[in-house]
Formats: sequence, structure tokens, C-alpha cells
Amino acid sequence: MTPDAGLVEAPTTVLTAWPGLRDGVTARVEGTDLVLTGEGRTTRLRGIPEALRRHLAEGRPDADEVVREATERLLARMGHLTTTRLRCDAHEVMRHESTTRSTAYEPADLAETDVLRLDRFALLRTRGDVLVLECPRATHRFVLTSDLARALAVDLGTPRRVRDLVTGTTCEDAAVEVLGHWVGAGLVERARPDGGFATDTDPTLVQWDFHDLLMHSRSRSGRHDEPLGALSPHRGRIHPLPAVVPPRGDALAVVDLPRPAPWTGGLSLAEAVERRRSIRDYARTPVSLEELGAFLHRSFRDRARFDPPADAGQESKVSRPYPSGGGLYEHELYLTVRRCEGLAPGIYHYDALHHRLELVTDDAGGASAMLAVAAAATGHPASPDVLLTLTARFQRMSWRYRSIAYANVLRTTGAIYQTMYLVATDLDLAPCALGNGDADLAARVLGLDYLRESSVGDFVLGRRDPRDVVEGAPMAGWTVLDETTA
Ligand SMILES: Cc1cc2nc3c(=O)[nH]c(=O)nc-3n(C[C@H](O)[C@H](O)[C@H](O)COP(=O)(O)O)c2cc1C
Repeated sequence: MTPDAGLVEAPTTVLTAWPGLRDGVTARVEGTDLVLTGEGRTTRLRGIPEALRRHLAEGRPDADEVVREATERLLARMGHLTTTRLRCDAHEVMRHESTTRSTAYEPADLAETDVLRLDRFALLRTRGDVLVLECPRATHRFVLTSDLARALAVDLGTPRRVRDLVTGTTCEDAAVEVLGHWVGAGLVERARPDGGFATDTDPTLVQWDFHDLLMHSRSRSGRHDEPLGALSPHRGRIHPLPAVVPPRGDALAVVDLPRPAPWTGGLSLAEAVERRRSIRDYARTPVSLEELGAFLHRSFRDRARFDPPADAGQESKVSRPYPSGGGLYEHELYLTVRRCEGLAPGIYHYDALHHRLELVTDDAGGASAMLAVAAAATGHPASPDVLLTLTARFQRMSWRYRSIAYANVLRTTGAIYQTMYLVATDLDLAPCALGNGDADLAARVLGLDYLRESSVGDFVLGRRDPRDVVEGAPMAGWTVLDETTA
């Protein structure tokens, strides 16, 4: 490192880069082919020269420069299986992994007065037995295999000058290079001349929450190298959850719900879609048990089931009126009933198979706590007749899917919302989806294990106040655009 504001020169003179295979990736030579297997994927490289095959399979650090360069070119095509070990003398400092197939970065030149900090979206986590540094803004990951790299990462939790970060480390030149790699790869931010960091001030970045960007980057393919999709990673080790939840043995009461007459008449699809609105004010009279039964039957009941023979090795399935990611129907439905003609107040589980309600608790305190959270979410003083709490049995989804399990739960929650909106509109009820509910409170009140099943969505329902204007301008100041003006 040069003094003061001087640039660090020749950033790779201390650290040397050795490409190789990631942990858990195995290499097998078949004739002149090299077959790489890892993370459930296999890649066959045909016609590989002997020396290169040996180097790849054994990761030998003493391969000559030609082999090393050829290996680098080859590995650039298989980023998801390869790693680059960065060494100082014979000691490994850290490993670099690309999280997309072809991305390169240039290590940054740093001045010793530069102020650095971990990117606001960066995370340090344990993977197997190693500590990894990642960031959803970056397409690179570093595996921190040395005390030097780990100590630097921790120190970067607060803004620090390069000089202060590296002073006293076992190898200051190597430390500067490590920092240059992290800045260049986009995991560490360099303060601007005014002292601020882009992730705190940039109008686009500042509007991203840490977990939202992480979730976004991980629940679509393209920006990460984690296994994604219907890979059934636990097949053979863990039994998948059944499609149908067995009846609750601890139900305080069971209420058979009225089944609606065959669904003829009613609004046309066009009318239901066009009239649908969120309504948060309610009539004096409550919703009736018949209406509640029709609402649940038409939006959420099991309308068919598939039970394969015991030895068929297939999963049981159900079908409901709304679409569900993977057809897994992992959602359950609980009703906090404040008032409903023909039904006692309490908190019920909806048994979608038998179209009946199971009384989970008649504790008025739990119900009023749940309703208070819902009322706060609507911002309206009126309490709904019924609060519907959607939970998900997470492992039903994550047994099948990697990376997108939770995102799929939320996607399906949206499909349920719209189905409930349309059915409620057809029944002339007052529906409103909610963006927040207290999942901890719900788990406590409903007697659920938060990690197995907890709330992912809420929906309030009541009898529509006949004075409420459903058609026409939704509220003062709005202009309704009809089909010809829209
Ligand atoms: C995912 C989602 C979350 C929502 N969260 C709330 C909420 O927390 N409180 C509320 O009063 N309305 C909520 N709504 C209703 C929206 O405010 C409403 O759909 C939007 O303002 C459009 O009005 P409309 O439904 O009457 O057409 C939510 C709707 C959706 C789809």
C-alpha cells in the first residue's frame, strides 16, 4: 500500500489465484471426458487433455502456467461448479465463487484513506463448515477460509479507513488486496467524497429493504447459483406432508357448514371483476352462516382429492377453486369470528375437505388481539364480522421446491386473495385483503409451531353496508374511466 492517497499498485502480486472445483463437486475421468457432478447437476467436458483433466480432478496447485490458464478458461464456463482459491504464499486466504455463469470483476485499486463498509445488502453466513460473504447486489461470493479474511469482514461492519483496517494484520499487502477484491466484486462499498454510501442515499437503493432484495434475488433464477425448482431435495429422507390435514383432535366443537345451492345465476365473471372493490365499512347486521358457508365453499373447499395406492410412490393431492404453486395446496384457513348470525364467536379452523369449522379456541382475548391487528391494517375504525387468517404448511412446499418455496407460498396467497374477492363480490359481501398480520400472535393464539405453519396473509369480511356505493366512482376525487375512455 502506498502512503496517503496513493493507489495500490499491482493488486495481484501478493495473492495468487488458483482455479479448482468447489467443495462437494466431484470430478471423474471417463476416457477423454471429464464428468463433474455437484448440487444435483452433472456437466460432461469432452476431449480434455490429460494434464488438464488431472489438474481439474486433483486441483493441483503446482500445475504449470499453461495448464492453469487453460483451466481458468474452461472453468469460466462452469461457474456453478468451480472456485478460485486466492493464496498468499502457500496459505489460502479466501475462495471466490461466481454466482452466475459468466461474470468477471476487476479488483479495485484502493487508497489507504478510502473509507469502506460492507454493502448494506451484504450478509455473512455459515455454509456447511465455512463462513461465506454474499450480497444480492453482486454476482460473486467469497468463502472466508482464513482468519485474515474473517477479521476484515467483521471489521467492515462499521465504516473504516483502509489504513486502519489493514494495520496490524498478519499481511498488510494481502489484506489490501482482499479489500480490493471485495470492493471490485461489489460486496463492500467505498464511501463517496462526502462520506456517504450509495446504499444509504441512492434513491433506488435506499428504497430496498435488506430482506426484500435478498428474497427477490433468490426467488428467481439468474442472479444466484443455488439449486432452484422442483428438485424434491428431501425425497427418501423425510416424508412429505399429506395434502389433507387430519381433523384436529383438540377441537372444542365442530360446526357443519351449510353448502350453497349449485352456483348458477349470480354475477357474470365480467360483472364480478368490474364490481370488485375493497370495502372496509360494514352493515349493522352481521354476515350469516349461509353466506359464510357459501363464501368458504366457493373460494377454499377441497373440490376433489387424489389418493394414490399406498405402493404407487405418488403424493396425495387435492384441488381447490384457486390455483396453487405445484398443486400443493399448502394453505390452511382460520376464522376469527366476531359476529356471524348462526355461529358463536370464536376462532375456528376451516376443514376444507368436510366443509366444516373446528373451534380452536373461544378465548375472547386472543380473538380481540387478532381483530385489533386487522383493524390497524385497514386503518378503519370498523371491525369486520370475520377475520380470515391464511397460514401455510411450509414444509409441504419446501419438500418439493428449492429456492422458491416461500415465494410460491406468497404467490399463491395472492391467488387466494383474488378468488376470495370475486366470490365475496358475487355474494354482495364486503371484502378486503390485508398486507400485514402478526404471525407470532397468530401462532400463539392458533396453537401453531411458527416454523411449521404460520400466517402468511389475512382477509377481512363483513356484510356490506347497503349505503356503500359499489358501482361508480370509488371515492371523491376519482374519475371512472369506462371501456371507451380507458
Ligand atoms: C396484497 C394486498 C395487501 C393489501 N393490504 C391492505 C391493508 O393492509 N389494508 C387495507 O385496508 N387494504 C389492503 N389491501 C387492499 C388495497 O388497498 C386495495 O386493493 C387497493 O387500494 C385498490 O382498491 P380496490 O381493491 O378497492 O380496487 C391490500 C390488497 C392487496 C392485494
